[in-house]
Amino acid sequence: MDSIIVTGNGPLNGQIPIAGAKNACLTLMPATLLSEEPLTLTNAPRLSDIRTMSTLLQSLGAEVAQMQGGQVLALSSHDLVSHKAEYDIVRKMRASILVLGPLLARAGHAVVSLPGGCAIGARPVDLHLKALEAMGAELELRDGYVHARAPSGLRGGVVEFPFVSVGATENALMAATLARGTTVLKNAAREPEIVDLAQCLRRMGARIEGEGTSTITIEGVDRLGGATHAVVADRIELGTYMLAPAICGGEVECLGGRIALVEAFCERLDAAGIRVEETAAGLKVTRGNGRVRAVDVVTEPFPGFPTDLQAQMMALLATADGVSVLEERIFENRFMHAPELMRMGAKIDVQGGTATVTGVERLRGAPVMATDLRASVSLILAGLAAEGETTVSRVYHLDRGYEHVEDKLSAVGARIERITGQ
Ligand code: EPZ
Repeated sequence: MDSIIVTGNGPLNGQIPIAGAKNACLTLMPATLLSEEPLTLTNAPRLSDIRTMSTLLQSLGAEVAQMQGGQVLALSSHDLVSHKAEYDIVRKMRASILVLGPLLARAGHAVVSLPGGCAIGARPVDLHLKALEAMGAELELRDGYVHARAPSGLRGGVVEFPFVSVGATENALMAATLARGTTVLKNAAREPEIVDLAQCLRRMGARIEGEGTSTITIEGVDRLGGATHAVVADRIELGTYMLAPAICGGEVECLGGRIALVEAFCERLDAAGIRVEETAAGLKVTRGNGRVRAVDVVTEPFPGFPTDLQAQMMALLATADGVSVLEERIFENRFMHAPELMRMGAKIDVQGGTATVTGVERLRGAPVMATDLRASVSLILAGLAAEGETTVSRVYHLDRGYEHVEDKLSAVGARIERITGQ
């Protein structure tokens, strides 16, 4: 397993390119199952999760060609050979559940392994299933698989989500495009990745209104065509790299970033004393002299503060002047980075879904272990500002969501290197 060694090296300066969004690409790729025509995705990120989704789609009979080093994905599912998403692929990546809705809508039946939990929580899929049942699907849970059938096709229905679910909204949105009649999704997720999916589906011929609001209305059509679509910029990678100059000092421009993607996050950075300027090329982040101010954070569905930036923000606040309270409202176990940050000298008290962080002047480098995707990158950020050397092990977590992290950070002056095979 690879490790990454980071050594505190003072202020960072320069530019970091932001890739296409992992969480948009992971829902855009299954959309190929809805049509017999080719779907081309540009600005695709080069990540292990994308390769896992490609393998899953290919196991169903879809063709997935990676071009331009993986930045362009040419997908086509003209002839499906299987309707079963096997456990050994699904267990590696929960987003595999996103083939359920499209497969059911296209073929009238699907067998998809239940994804099982993951490090940050149980992460059930009951809202996905209820949404499909509201569209006439007959579902049976057997042997760890969802057996879904819609012999006479799906029909439009009203889906009222009891709370916001990104994945359930995506599954329902894709399924509804081929359902007979009108589907209304209420309390739908509003994330930019949902808007991106809706825009791609519309290019394929879907009839959708209201994406980006809490109510999305879909008029089903008989069939969808092909499309070419550019994946939206990754707001989580963007926020992550904006924190590098915030923690180390200096000035870094994140190319491709827009304020609209990270508005709530930028409001917290502003309160902490970090300057963010929207330029023609992206977002320029500058930290002046003196320490960052302590701020409180509450994670919420978009447009609130993203849960996927909570761990990274905690790394910043671990060195802030004062006490910050972080409340994690989306997942039940998303503070596993806290004990690792404490090994670096951070003062953090975790009580249930609330972490109280008392800032210290400087963290100290230490050997630490990645536990999940976003926790691992928060340890890298902490190591950038810490005194001495930090070794982050199990960085395969990192490679799921960040392409060439060591190259992007070295380019702005960080001392960071990957040790393979440790
Ligand atoms: C998506 O996960 C993202 N993943 C997550 O990013 C992100 O943290 C999450 O949305 C919230 O923004 C992808 O897009 C691939 P949810 P998803 O359904 O769709 C509960 C990352 O680091 N829930 O919005 O699985 C669930 O347990 C990943 O890139 C149910 O109870 O998230 C959670 O507590 C991590 N039943 C809450 O809702 C359901 O049927 C929100 O989950 C579905 C969800």
